[in-house]
Amino acid sequence: MISAQTVLALAFIPLVFGQTNNTLGIEAIEAHFSNSGIVPTLLSSFDPSALLTVSYDGVGNLSPGQSLTKTQVGPTPNLQVTPANSTVQLNGTFTVVMADAGPVGTDESQGQTRHWLVNDVTLTGGSAPFNVSTDDGTAITEYAGPAPAQGSGAHRYVILLYSQPSSFEAPDGFDQPDIGVSVFNLTDYVQNSHLGSLVAGTYLTVEEGTATFTPSSTAPVITSTLPAAQSTSTSPSSSSTSSSSAPSATNAGKQSSGSETLLASSAKTFIAGLLGFLLL
Ligand SMILES: *[C@@H]1O[C@H](CO)[C@@H](O)[C@H](O)[C@H]1NC(C)=O
Ligand SMILES: *[C@@H]1O[C@H](CO)[C@@H](O)[C@H](O)[C@H]1NC(C)=O
Ligand SMILES: *[C@@H]1O[C@H](CO)[C@@H](O)[C@H](O)[C@H]1NC(C)=O
Ligand SMILES: *[C@@H]1O[C@H](CO)[C@@H](O)[C@H](O)[C@H]1NC(C)=O
Ligand SMILES: *[C@@H]1O[C@H](CO)[C@@H](O)[C@H](O)[C@H]1NC(C)=O
Repeated sequence: MISAQTVLALAFIPLVFGQTNNTLGIEAIEAHFSNSGIVPTLLSSFDPSALLTVSYDGVGNLSPGQSLTKTQVGPTPNLQVTPANSTVQLNGTFTVVMADAGPVGTDESQGQTRHWLVNDVTLTGGSAPFNVSTDDGTAITEYAGPAPAQGSGAHRYVILLYSQPSSFEAPDGFDQPDIGVSVFNLTDYVQNSHLGSLVAGTYLTVEEGTATFTPSSTAPVITSTLPAAQSTSTSPSSSSTSSSSAPSATNAGKQSSGSETLLASSAKTFIAGLLGFLLL
């Protein structure tokens, strides 16, 4: 027997989830990039217009800065991109880059090890989230899973999606497919090739053994203090959830996931809505 309240409550579900807005997820990644020093050390700024979701087989969708093992990051990840809102149009071709920014505090002027570089990438799928189909692109460097040296700390691997305008021109040395892994200068590559805006990005960390030095500390990201969380908060008692932006010796493995935080807050809104209807 289905009660009228149940029918009402079920009808309410799309309304609740229809409010989903990627602003909070994007703000969380921006905060992680700042707190882990990726901005401004590797990237002078980061103002994405879409949310990049990276997933590895057997791991699932990553939260920003998530700590993974060498084995977990062995296979090529799947990338999906979701525009921040309906006014953002993702058209044309893109370039995917994965680069090792090293542990927090690394001098980026020495360059970065390039683990993945694919030009002419397109997006597939009729609606968001779109699949980033690197298989159809030109792989300058095929995906090579991170394998940082023992004791060299938690390396930050950024995965970035740049728009690739028609003025794009592969710089010398990067104009042939399959050149393999080497050190390059991300900033120089982006400038010299005339890549467009950095549409979306995220990062993960991989550490082998225990760091033989004291890693630089980073501030945690408190999701509930981000502007989008403030403006969409429905509960005055909503709790603070922190997630570390880069693992250090003391907090590795204790990170809470940004997407878990988002889910938790959606669920809270949903339950509040459900209760509201059941109490009618
Ligand atoms: C949509 O997202 C873009 C990129 O983040 C932003 O500049 C713009 O203000 C957003 N528009 C709305 C209505 O939220
Ligand atoms: C750009 O992408 C949007 C969907 O994001 C689509 O509606 C629009 O037709 C595309 N425009 C062009 C010129 O391809
Ligand atoms: C690489 O890029 C950085 C900016 O991140 C710049 O300061 C540095 O001079 C570049 N290094 C080389 C070897 O070109
Ligand atoms: C997107 O990728 C997933 C695997 O990651 C696949 O299951 C799905 O069919 C793809 N969708 C499109 C439209 O290509
Ligand atoms: C998404 O949420 C942000 C922050 O709450 C808000 O400023 C923006 O207008 C929302 N955009 C859409 C399209 O709902």
